[in-house]
Amino acid sequence: MTQLIEDLEILDQSNDVQEEHCEVKVSKESNNQTAKKLYIESYGCQMNFSDSEIVTSILQKEGFDTTASFEAADVILLNTCSIREKAEQTIRKRLTQFNKIKLERPEITIGVLGCMAERLKSNLLEEEKIVDLVVGPDAYRDLPNLVRQAEEGQKGVNTFLSREETYADISPVRLNSNGVTAFISIMRGCDNMCSFCVVPFTRGRERSRDPHSIISEAQDLFSKGYREVTLLGQNVDSYKWSPEENNKARLEKQEVNQVVNFANLLEMVAQVHPELRVRFSTSHPKDITDEVLHTMKRYENICKYIHLPAQSGNSRVLELMNRTYDREWYINRVDAIREILGEDCGISSDMITGFCTETEAEHQDSLSLMEYVQYDFSYMFFYSERPGTLAAKKYKDDISLEVKKRRLQEVIDTQRGLSLARNQRDIGKTFTVLVEGFSKRSNDDLQGRNTANKVVIFKNNGAKKGEYVQVKVYDCTAATLFGEVIA
Ligand code: SAH
Ligand code: SF4
Ligand code: F3S
Repeated sequence: MTQLIEDLEILDQSNDVQEEHCEVKVSKESNNQTAKKLYIESYGCQMNFSDSEIVTSILQKEGFDTTASFEAADVILLNTCSIREKAEQTIRKRLTQFNKIKLERPEITIGVLGCMAERLKSNLLEEEKIVDLVVGPDAYRDLPNLVRQAEEGQKGVNTFLSREETYADISPVRLNSNGVTAFISIMRGCDNMCSFCVVPFTRGRERSRDPHSIISEAQDLFSKGYREVTLLGQNVDSYKWSPEENNKARLEKQEVNQVVNFANLLEMVAQVHPELRVRFSTSHPKDITDEVLHTMKRYENICKYIHLPAQSGNSRVLELMNRTYDREWYINRVDAIREILGEDCGISSDMITGFCTETEAEHQDSLSLMEYVQYDFSYMFFYSERPGTLAAKKYKDDISLEVKKRRLQEVIDTQRGLSLARNQRDIGKTFTVLVEGFSKRSNDDLQGRNTANKVVIFKNNGAKKGEYVQVKVYDCTAATLFGEVIA
């Protein structure tokens, strides 16, 4: 089957304060009139968007084609997120909107995939009567089978979590593609057990994907015209692949004869081609090594930008959060970034306000950490208790919603000031920008990003998507740089 899905639309960009990072993406229209139609809508993080590309690939092999309209679909899939209560409420609301279509066309199959499926398992079938399928993140290979059964009227649940599954052999159908930038999943799961977080329960144990399959995916993308890949994992710095554990045959053939850590992998991907930019997300402060930073420095095409979520700036709160680092450790890592990669390296964070027992003084420590680091950008949230997590079991969610929200607003205001100040530093500088397409507002302008992941908008000079241009910055807002092409 030819690949007919070119793009995904972003339906609902998060509001600009990032209080809820909720991006929704849906499959696009394809023009095969006879195939069965799949509509897939994805919520949550990049891992989920990346998984939807794997799901689409699996179902395409079964003869499905995608559609951008759920009314036209034979199968509707929601790839869901459980990270905060509000994320789950959004999905529940969305499911009620499908009631009408299920009444009109009872033969339609409605499936819930992803983290909410994993968390709620078969309970979801009881709570949401219109749902036919509940499939967790490690069970997508079973989808053709489950969809077939659902078409015969039998509801199905598969929430088996695997220690091995990485979908290494499945070529994702690039759903959210602008043809220039793509995501490559390099690991799955998380072993960290931060006390607030549901991810270890919904995504299972950490496992790393075979480096060969990662490199060949990057090579394939480059040959198709892509110029930037982002290596994805909940904690990319703990990427570890050892031939002994994973593939004895390969060891015998001496294809890989050593353990591959994240710095090694980064280098291997950077060597695919000097014109292929490499990004990665997310880095855990406890694991990011100087070796990774030095590898970044050695390769021009590894982008100088690190998403390094702090969550809090206070050591006692960090301990309660079970983040396994304290304020001093975090500051030491930031100092290492500044020393090895320089002041211009982009750094962003995730921050949580109003975690259990957080005092005003401890909240102030978060603000002062932000000022110290001078983050370019942050995703900011108030604490939302998640059932089953360590924090839900051990601590009282004792900060009122009002206080959580007020502290969040202070964090947001601080970040806005920092983002603007960081962007103002860039005025007068010239950056290499990878052209991603027209600016959102007008075809008279093009947009791309610089190495530090900042969006740069400049007059359309006829440059094509995927080309590199030199842009000199003359103005900015807190979110965007404006410049002119000088070469
Ligand atoms: N693996 C990444 C985070 C993935 S979840 C890391 O460790 O940094 C994305 C972000 O959601 C987290 O960084 C955290 O800031 C936020 N988050 C997770 N659980 C939350 C909760 N219960 N309430 C509020 N925010 C939460
Ligand atoms: Fe959640 Fe912590 Fe794992 Fe990130 S590192 S996914 S916050 S448990
Ligand atoms: Fe949400 Fe699951 Fe990602 S809980 S943030 S979709 S890993």
